[in-house]
Amino acid sequence: MLIVGICGSPKKERSNTRLMLEKALEAASDSLSDGETKQATTMLLNISDFDIRHCTGCDSCVRKKPCPESAKDDMPMIEAHLLRADGIIIAAPSYFTSVPGVLKDFIDRSRFLKMQDHQLKNKVFGAITYAGLRYGGQEHVIDVLNRYALAQGMIVVGSLGSPVKDGTFGSGSLQTDEAGWRSAKDDSLAIRGSQKLGLRVAEIVKKLH
Ligand SMILES: Cc1cc2nc3c(=O)[nH]c(=O)nc-3n(C[C@H](O)[C@H](O)[C@H](O)COP(=O)(O)O)c2cc1C
Repeated sequence: MLIVGICGSPKKERSNTRLMLEKALEAASDSLSDGETKQATTMLLNISDFDIRHCTGCDSCVRKKPCPESAKDDMPMIEAHLLRADGIIIAAPSYFTSVPGVLKDFIDRSRFLKMQDHQLKNKVFGAITYAGLRYGGQEHVIDVLNRYALAQGMIVVGSLGSPVKDGTFGSGSLQTDEAGWRSAKDDSLAIRGSQKLGLRVAEIVKKLH
């Protein structure tokens, strides 16, 4: 069983979103490993480590022909990891209340997998986001990611914790109140939400396995 996480931040270092994704994958890994064998159960891919060209809208994928851009960039590498995965978690920062362009390029380019008989279908999917502002577009980012996964035929899940205290996805902000800012590592609610999202993805992966 394998859960692949994609960090959609363009940042090479100190990504808040990546921290949340790491928490989710740690929780998922603990849940998936049987305690004795320490086989790799999770993998984290930084979208910024890959060269991803824009979709040019040529519609080769619709005609079931290879994507011409995939001969020139790293998309086949990412696709190979995703095809091996049982679960996929995408974490994205809010950029003008949506996903960063580099992640949108990945989303658009992965249309090939959809057009080739929904190759990502039945993979369990969870979304995480992080933003600067307390009300900085988090719900819209989650919506974009979840709708992407639905279009790919994935099984979308949310975090599941206390019905009173926990939300339905991993989400947080650097802003605390009108005067204050924090480091993401001090955002305990966002970390807890991300861990619960990772656990939920792992739980459904195990049920389907
Ligand atoms: C181009 C750009 C656009 C942004 N737009 C928003 C926004 O609409 N709302 C918000 O709350 N934060 C916004 N931010 C702040 C980021 O969401 C915030 O810094 C987040 O923690 C970045 O995550 P990362 O560290 O994983 O890259 C923006 C940042 C950048 C660079």
